[in-house]
Amino acid sequence: MQFDFNLNLDFLQAKSPPLIGVDISTSSIKMVELSDAGKGVYRIEHYTIEPLARDVVTDGNITNLEVVMEAVKRAWRQMGTRTKNVALALPAAAVITKKIVVPAGLAENELELQVEGEANQYIPFALDEVNLDFQVLGPAPNADGEVEVLIAASRKEKVEDRVAAIEAAGLKALVMDVESFATQTAYELIAPQLPNAGKDLAIAIVDIGSTMMHVNVMLNNQSVYMREQTFGGNQLTQEIQRRYGLSAEEAEIAKRNGGLPENFQPEVLQPFLDSLALEVARALQFFFSSTQFNKVDQILLAGGCAMIPGTEEAVSQRTQIRTSIANPFAGMAVSSRIKPRQLAQDAPILLTACGLAVRRFDP
Ligand SMILES: Nc1ncnc2c1ncn2[C@@H]1O[C@H](COP(=O)(O)OP(=O)(O)OP(=O)(O)O)[C@@H](O)[C@H]1O
Ligand SMILES: [Mg+2]
Repeated sequence: MQFDFNLNLDFLQAKSPPLIGVDISTSSIKMVELSDAGKGVYRIEHYTIEPLARDVVTDGNITNLEVVMEAVKRAWRQMGTRTKNVALALPAAAVITKKIVVPAGLAENELELQVEGEANQYIPFALDEVNLDFQVLGPAPNADGEVEVLIAASRKEKVEDRVAAIEAAGLKALVMDVESFATQTAYELIAPQLPNAGKDLAIAIVDIGSTMMHVNVMLNNQSVYMREQTFGGNQLTQEIQRRYGLSAEEAEIAKRNGGLPENFQPEVLQPFLDSLALEVARALQFFFSSTQFNKVDQILLAGGCAMIPGTEEAVSQRTQIRTSIANPFAGMAVSSRIKPRQLAQDAPILLTACGLAVRRFDP
């Protein structure tokens, strides 16, 4: 799947030009750059995680463009790369997607007309306020001579804000994807590590960041369910602030590096992990009750909350489902610039950025 939301691509002609995956999210900007190490193996060349102050990106919206732009600049310098082309993503909530079925063999301009006609019917904004894109998925199931087309639409300003933050930092946006699709792409890198390479298994990717929890259930590299609910690591940070009278920054540092009083574990961390596990269990209940599925074979945890010691165990105990931490880099070669241990630790929060970096190798 590849969208650009009409960014005027000129790179599709060149064969996999270097591209950085850039994930602009609530707590930080993540960047990942991959290269082809040959024999179907990727190598991670560079990555960085540049923290963002609070309320600069909220609910996936850039609310302070200036600050984000400065952070993009810093992140890029940290990367130590010369690559300026980037792949970005919009939060799933900012994008309306719909599958339609059209006759096979339409000319490009006929297809565009069909797409616009369909889009007019269900997009709640005027078409000149949205960036519209579509992708032919392939033959429609049970319909001879028809193809399935996925339409994606987002309000122009959502696309433009992200592009502006990148361009003001001297970089060039070539791909505009959707975060949930990037997660699915990253899953394709993880599947080979699963029992029987994940074949016929229902795998729930649960990404818990600072404010949101995203659930994406995959079956044979297809997403069969998606949901997001508000829950995230900020709740733990805020409780640390409140309990120990710390600033947001101090609480963030203490959360990562430890050094909190002894009652932190039993009185603050454990209750947080309990509610996190409960939220995951609840999300899976929603999945079962709204689909014909009645089991998930494995949970892959991602996002910053996957880095909190005890998360994996809390989730597997509560759900009774095999749980592990997502590592899209496990099968990759690693540049000598990168410390493998640090990368393994950071891997769960780089999932989206990694999925975006893979766009470089799209046919
Ligand atoms: N090493 C760590 N130990 C504990 N918590 C961590 C660690 N690293 C990050 N976190 C927490 O994870 C959260 C950030 O995770 P992540 O970067 O996945 O979120 P985000 O993508 O910015 O947020 P969202 O997905 O809600 O937009 C923060 O609450 C942060 O405190
Ligand atoms: Mg996130």
